[in-house]
Amino acid sequence: MMGAEPLIDFRAVSMEYQSTGGERTTVFRSLGLTINAGEFACVIGPSGCGKTTLLNMIAGFVAPTSGEVLFKGQPIREPGAERGCVFQEYSLFPWLTVEENVEFGLRCQGVPAGERRDLVERHLSLVGLANTRKKYPFELSGGMQQRVGIARALINNPAVLLMDEPFAALDAITRNTMQSELLSIWKATGTTVFYITHNIEEAVFLGTRAMVMSSPPAMIAHAVQIELPHPRERTTADFNAIYRELETALYSHIDPKLLRKS
Ligand SMILES: Nc1ncnc2c1ncn2[C@@H]1O[C@H](COP(=O)(O)OP(=O)(O)O)[C@@H](O)[C@H]1O
Ligand SMILES: [Mg+2]
Repeated sequence: MMGAEPLIDFRAVSMEYQSTGGERTTVFRSLGLTINAGEFACVIGPSGCGKTTLLNMIAGFVAPTSGEVLFKGQPIREPGAERGCVFQEYSLFPWLTVEENVEFGLRCQGVPAGERRDLVERHLSLVGLANTRKKYPFELSGGMQQRVGIARALINNPAVLLMDEPFAALDAITRNTMQSELLSIWKATGTTVFYITHNIEEAVFLGTRAMVMSSPPAMIAHAVQIELPHPRERTTADFNAIYRELETALYSHIDPKLLRKS
């Protein structure tokens, strides 16, 4: 599309951490990356390559050392409800019930109680949790806690859902179920998803684009547009061809030092 503005735009982004011992880690050097509205963009990379740092810059939790990250054309300066986050740890408030967790953002924004109740109901149904509204996080399975986390992010009607290995701690069966449900949610809401994983299969199952990150200073070493229609079959030749392409790219861009650490 001519003149279409990317939703998220990394422009010559460099990111350096300085440890307390004074040594510097250059995670990114002049990284460029754009995410368009409506995409389900997956980023794959080994532990320590900078995936969380990348997501944190979009979320507005950390600022690049140089360069800028634009959201709808404006530099990101702080977190915002338009960029909803879901992390690997469930990060729910343990002292609040499911519905209180989900309505937390709305309460902060001063949305009136009646409106909050409707929105909470709609979003709990969306993630299949309509009957657990009065429960506390400790009463829920890991998968259910992640559903609460997703509902809590979605209730602010975000333009993008930022997901950092959200299903990595779940057992394989629950993970597969959650992946399918996330796809339904993505279709139903039309939100953009930026999804971080170290699992190649997950990226091929979910993404409209999968990107492989190299070891630091990290670049997008390889990207594949995935045209397979959803729902996808994990065992087809097409699926496997993309899987192998990503796997080859991943292993040819991993610093052997990172492999030894993990
Ligand atoms: N707050 C921080 N201070 C210093 N170094 C950090 C900090 N956060 C991350 N790093 C370093 O930056 C690199 C990338 O980390 P991270 O973005 O968490 O990678 P990933 O999510 O891919 O595992 C790692 O070497 C990590 O040790
Ligand atoms: Mg991480």
